[in-house]
Amino acid sequence: MKIGIVGKGGVGKTTTSSLLARALVARGRRVLAVDTDSNPNLGLSLGLSPDATESLQPIPRSMVVGRRGDMTVAELMNDFAVLTPEGVSLMSALRVNEAGAGCTCGGHASVRSLLGEALHSETDDTIIDMEAGIEHLSRAGGTLAHADVLVLMMEPSRKAIITAQRTIGLAKELGIARWVGVGNRVEDDDARQALEEMCAEHDVPLDVVIPTDSTLAAADRRGIPLEMVAAPDVWAAIETLVDRLDVGAADLTHS
Ligand SMILES: Nc1ncnc2c1ncn2[C@@H]1O[C@H](COP(=O)(O)OP(=O)(O)OP(=O)(O)O)[C@@H](O)[C@H]1O
Ligand SMILES: [Mg+2]
Repeated sequence: MKIGIVGKGGVGKTTTSSLLARALVARGRRVLAVDTDSNPNLGLSLGLSPDATESLQPIPRSMVVGRRGDMTVAELMNDFAVLTPEGVSLMSALRVNEAGAGCTCGGHASVRSLLGEALHSETDDTIIDMEAGIEHLSRAGGTLAHADVLVLMMEPSRKAIITAQRTIGLAKELGIARWVGVGNRVEDDDARQALEEMCAEHDVPLDVVIPTDSTLAAADRRGIPLEMVAAPDVWAAIETLVDRLDVGAADLTHS
C-alpha cells in the first residue's frame, strides 16, 4: 500500500511515519519510508545516526517519468535506500544543501514517478513523509497522485483541521480514493472533545487519536526512536491506525 502522511507543519507527520513504519515491520511487512522533507530527519526516528541521516543520497532527478533509463525498482532501492536499524528501508527524496539553489520541484516529480512504479515487487508498504502543507497536492501532476491512501495528521487546532479539509478537496481532485484522519498530541479529554467537534464541523474524519506522550517527545529530543515497550497508549493508537489502513487490501489488488 502507498501511504502519504500529510498535514500542517509540526503536527507529527515524521513521528507518525516512523511509528507506523515500525508497526508494519513488526507485522512482518517489507516497508519503504520516503522522506520528502527538504530538511530530512526521518532517519533519526528510524535509528540512523545523524551522520548516516546526513549522508543519505537523494533519489535522482532522472527518476522523472521517461528519463529513468533501464533502472529497475530493485536497482533503485539497492542504490538509494538504506536499511535502518528499525528494519525499515529509507529513501530521501529531496535535500536542500545550498542556499539559493532553486526550487525542489524535481525531487517532488521523482517521488511522483516512484509511486507510479510497481513497487510491490520490492516492498509491501511505502510510506511517504510529506513536507508540511498542501502544495505537494497542487504541484503539476500532484506528488501523491499515485497514493492509495492519505493519513491526514492533525493536532487539536482549527488551523490543522482546516488544512486537512483542504487536503481532502485536493485529494478528491487527484483521484486519491481514501483518507484516514489522525488526531495527534491530544492532551486530555477536553482536547479530544474539541478535536471531535472541530472535525465534525469541517467534515474531516477522526479515525485515530494519538495522545500527548512525554516519552515520545523526549526520544525525539534525543534524536532516537521510541522504544517498543515505552508509551503503550501511543503504540496502541498506531496499531489502530494500521488496522484502519487495512494494508492487506492492497496486496489483493496487486496479486
Ligand atoms: N504524540 C506526541 N506526544 C508528544 N510529542 C509529540 C507527539 N507527536 C509529535 N510530538 C513532537 O512534536 C514535534 C513535531 O513532530 P514531528 O516532527 O513529527 O512533526 P512534523 O509534522 O513532521 O513537522 P514538520 O512539519 O516540521 O515536518 C516533535 O518535537 C515531536 O517530538
Ligand atoms: Mg516532518
